[in-house]
Amino acid sequence: MKLCLIGYGNVGYGFIEVLRRHRPWLKERFGFAPKIVAIHDIRRGTILNPDGLDLKIIADAWRNNQNLCELGGSTNAPNALAVIKDSGADVVLELTPTDLRTGEPAAGHIRFALLSGKHVVTTNKGPVALFGKELLVLARKNGVQFRFEGTVMAGTPLFSLVDFTLAVPVQRVRGILNGTTNFILTQMEAGKGYEEALAEAQRLGYAETDPTADVEGFDALAKIVILANMVLDGDLRPSDVSCQGITKLAPPEVQRAPKEGFRWKLVAEARRTKDGVEAKVSPERLPLSDPLAQVGGVLNALTLELDPLGTITVVGPGAGPEVTGHAVLSDLLAIHRGLQ
Ligand code: HSE
Repeated sequence: MKLCLIGYGNVGYGFIEVLRRHRPWLKERFGFAPKIVAIHDIRRGTILNPDGLDLKIIADAWRNNQNLCELGGSTNAPNALAVIKDSGADVVLELTPTDLRTGEPAAGHIRFALLSGKHVVTTNKGPVALFGKELLVLARKNGVQFRFEGTVMAGTPLFSLVDFTLAVPVQRVRGILNGTTNFILTQMEAGKGYEEALAEAQRLGYAETDPTADVEGFDALAKIVILANMVLDGDLRPSDVSCQGITKLAPPEVQRAPKEGFRWKLVAEARRTKDGVEAKVSPERLPLSDPLAQVGGVLNALTLELDPLGTITVVGPGAGPEVTGHAVLSDLLAIHRGLQ
């Protein structure tokens, strides 16, 4: 499998590090030995090698903030579409920063790759929230796969759980879907200031390129729209969903709540109704007996309701370079194994 990375930020780097560490096991267990034949990043430059790039060299270049062109890459700054076309890759990894308003430039990259007969794996929430179903249809028409495990709950399995293991429709989902705000709330509860906690979340690679998307709830909004449309088969646009973030929560209130038997969490929910699917995102003061109240730090959790199982709750890391890199790897492995 030949891979082309479009976007080489935290997630691209995290993916390469996970791949490097687990390469022997992937080969032995699944006969899976992907090669990276191209990387294009608007800031870090472009490098192509049809025989496969050396993972250590490109990971070192990322850490040292070195431009890829200095490694013998292209110096004529080709655009992403030209790289996708010239790379000879079977799979395009769309890992550019999310734009929740337009989904661009990622949506354009994904459409082009699918139309060119290449599978696409993305962690970019914008195109999936805005055009998810359209992109799935486009993939099917072109005989390829479009996978997006890393868009919700990072590397914690969710879509693969639904796609490959559930035999009945999910009726409702409710959970904590933003790692940055959950981390900030946990830190604030322990007495840290909001700004300090946000800066730490940024340093750890949890926050979006523009962290307004996290703290105002837009990231959780994108994720609940993805779940509403792709798991509950709804037809929601982000503007259909009421959304409030954590910026209006007063720190003393966050600190006081546990003493009164409660904890503040940013909760996202979507459910089937007789008229379609409804969703919302808002801070909630949960009783400590609610399982979501026990999910701290960068962890995310999602409870799925379905007949006859009642509820299933998935808990795991929801943000971070390597855990999101794991989602990319998991999607690639699904493609390699021919799972649809
Ligand atoms: N900024 C996001 C979060 C990254 O904190 O959850 C993962 O989607």
